[in-house]
Amino acid sequence: MSNTEQTGSVSSLLSEALVADPHGTYARLREAAPVHRTATPDGEPMWLITRYAEARAALADPRLSLNKANAKTSGEYRSSMPPELDTHLLNMDPPDHTRLRRLVAKAFTPRRVEGLRMRIQKLTDELLTTMTGPRVDLVHALAVPLPMSVICELLGIPETARLDFRAWTDTLFSPAPGAATESRTAMRQMHQFLKSVIEEKRNSPTEDLLSALVQARDDRDVLTEPELVSLAFLTLFAGYDNAVHLIGNTALSLLLHPRLLTAVRGGAVPIRSVVEETLRWNPPFALAVRRFALEDVSIGNALIPAGSRVWVSIASANRDGREFPSPEVFDPTRTPTHLAFGYGVHYCIGAPLARMEAEIAVWSLMKRFSELELAVGLNELEWWPTFHKRGLRSLPVMTC
Ligand code: HEM
Repeated sequence: MSNTEQTGSVSSLLSEALVADPHGTYARLREAAPVHRTATPDGEPMWLITRYAEARAALADPRLSLNKANAKTSGEYRSSMPPELDTHLLNMDPPDHTRLRRLVAKAFTPRRVEGLRMRIQKLTDELLTTMTGPRVDLVHALAVPLPMSVICELLGIPETARLDFRAWTDTLFSPAPGAATESRTAMRQMHQFLKSVIEEKRNSPTEDLLSALVQARDDRDVLTEPELVSLAFLTLFAGYDNAVHLIGNTALSLLLHPRLLTAVRGGAVPIRSVVEETLRWNPPFALAVRRFALEDVSIGNALIPAGSRVWVSIASANRDGREFPSPEVFDPTRTPTHLAFGYGVHYCIGAPLARMEAEIAVWSLMKRFSELELAVGLNELEWWPTFHKRGLRSLPVMTC
């Protein structure tokens, strides 16, 4: 049993130490125990799962609900979303989840995703052409603008509205410290905007995900209006920020391993395997969505009481030596059993798109510049100061 588990009132493990050194801190927690009783930074009690086997089982456990109506406590950490934007897959359990997921999966066809390949390549090439070296910030110049354009094309957000859309999104994902009011305003504007785009799609449907969802709602009445708006919001919420950080983290994996970079350039190692190993080694979505125990649930060393909130650390599970030999080593030849896209009924629906974006972006970057190296030391890299995600604020490189 971990120390944290034996004390009555516990301090939060989701602390500055975890933000400053996630992998080192998780390594210590993982060795101590698979499950830890702790608290959110707001002081709400919670359970943190750190080992692979327990994490994978928990992600697929139907006794752990994503629906926050099942929370025992009223305060829901970091969840200030209004219901108009929050009635979506990551806040639902079967059978509602099954109904909605089926609809989204229908609209999110492999054909629609594959159809984006040429566009993603073109958008990437345009961004690369405008990059002038020798020093470039890859996050700013490539990792951020590419997924934003892709998500807008996928949803069918008109070109004219994209600047506003991007500004609200940036406020929501990267709020300045203490900018709660700006976030609330951005959320309200985003809500109004999504409603108006949906109305437009209703009147003149186009070939995109939003039109497909609108049609599903109107033809068969299987989707409520809040569900429709929330799904649009979820696609943005789940698809944008994570994709940004997957591109940044993949580029970083190569910059930190110059011999691997040469091997990928020469075709000896496929870029696909580098993306896959990055998903294990430095997963963008570091902490899965919180879950609530519907009954007393025994996991690993812990008996988690009904109503408790449970967080699964994907970042920790992905570096568990019980599943991945020499877990600290970046090895693109591994079998990809990582949990970066989740596991079970909530497995990420955008995984093929995310992989495609990162592969195209980083491969094209390597082709564009015959030399690429980090422009700052490893310790000078700036990560977003949060335990929820693992993403770079900037990635300065020297190019030529
Ligand atoms: C690198 C990029 C991405 C990562 C690491 C990622 C990660 C994840 C993870 C871990 C989950 C499961 C959450 C949980 O069970 O707690 C998830 C769910 C989901 N993701 Fe992604 N995601 C990425 C990109 C995308 C993209 C591009 C889209 C859409 C455009 C997307 C849409 C979704 C949706 C709709 C769900 C909810 C599925 C459900 O509940 O049935 N994701 N994602």
